[in-house]
Amino acid sequence: MIHRQIDVALGDRSYPLIAGTDMLSSFAPVCRHHGISDTVVIITDRNVARLHLQPLLRNLLHHKFQPLTITIPAGETQKTLTCSNRLFTEMLKKRIPRNAVIIAFGGGVIGDLAGFVAATYQRGINLVQVPTTLLAQVDSSIGGKVGVNHPLGKNMIGAFHQPAFVWMDMDYLKTLPKREMICGLGEIIKYGVIHDAELFSYLELHLEEVLHLDVEAVMHVQAACAAIKAEIVSKDEKESGIRIILNYGHTIGHGLESAGRYKLLKHGEAVLLGMIAEASIAKEMKLLEADSYERLVSLIRRVPLKANLFSLKRADIVNAMGHDKKRVAKKLRFVLPTKIGEVKVVDDVDPNLIRSAMREILKAK
Ligand SMILES: NC(=O)c1ccc[n+]([C@@H]2O[C@H](COP(=O)([O-])OP(=O)(O)OC[C@H]3O[C@@H](n4cnc5c(N)ncnc54)[C@H](O)[C@@H]3O)[C@@H](O)[C@H]2O)c1
Ligand SMILES: [Zn+2]
Repeated sequence: MIHRQIDVALGDRSYPLIAGTDMLSSFAPVCRHHGISDTVVIITDRNVARLHLQPLLRNLLHHKFQPLTITIPAGETQKTLTCSNRLFTEMLKKRIPRNAVIIAFGGGVIGDLAGFVAATYQRGINLVQVPTTLLAQVDSSIGGKVGVNHPLGKNMIGAFHQPAFVWMDMDYLKTLPKREMICGLGEIIKYGVIHDAELFSYLELHLEEVLHLDVEAVMHVQAACAAIKAEIVSKDEKESGIRIILNYGHTIGHGLESAGRYKLLKHGEAVLLGMIAEASIAKEMKLLEADSYERLVSLIRRVPLKANLFSLKRADIVNAMGHDKKRVAKKLRFVLPTKIGEVKVVDDVDPNLIRSAMREILKAK
């Protein structure tokens, strides 16, 4: 059952985010409605394939689509040019035409990777995002940023490629491991801090319900986050202005992720810790009042993060932050909270503050 539709308004590239529960039987008809060609290439990972592929395939076949499925191993380490090239080869060998459509069926890794392949295969083919993780349903599947990692930095190679539509079925979340729910919560709390004090207050009351997949609570926060992301992307598709605020927690978060070689911490976990560190920078710079800081940190600390940060070295984190795309000239760019629901972009953060913020999170292992 489709519960709601939110539009990402981008002129002739506008598209809907279609969300609900028990939506499977409508998928192929909605593809038809959007003029999706008969040849569809489903790119997915092994976990999602094992749990959810067969019903999707049956639905597409029943409506006379001709799906080709390419399944890759799961995980961030697959988000590379090498893996993209394997996908190109497979598609070229199967003579997949330019009017075919790629269905990115999985979490943010699949969305970014399959989206990148869609953006570049024969100069770009159509894409449908079918996100299956909480993080992908509130964030990564919306807005058209696609790409892969490079040994010198995360998401360094990529494009903007908007999908024809995004299909968000909450039922997929029922099989999601708890750790992945926690990652989704990272981005959800971020939306509350950057743009929506009401969402933040809702999370203060209902955090555990979201974590335990109470449908009403998840639908509520998913709708709030999708609406914020749709609004921000509509105003600033290519990140030349306001879209940067989505990077709160990410400057230090990316440093943590990279210093842990993408194995120690997952993206959403790193963002949770990055938000604490960046809020402490804001507090030290007197941009954020102490009581807002306390509210923010106590909400994040309620998330049962089990990361072991003992092996992380501060120098590695700072060094990795130097490769962040958001770096402007020689300065690191930070998005810092000024109160719950509002942030400010700051370029001149004292490096000593960055180091002591890091101490703040590394001590709290
Ligand atoms: N493009 C963007 O705007 C944007 C925004 C935020 C994050 N990202 C990217 O998203 C990625 C992280 O995404 P993610 O957290 O979804 O990770 P992910 O894609 O690796 O998925 C996490 C794990 O959950 C498994 N999984 C997926 N759906 C499942 C389901 N329904 N049931 C059981 N298991 C399931 C996957 O196989 C994987 O092991 C990062 O690469 C990050 O850079 C992109
Ligand atoms: Zn993120």
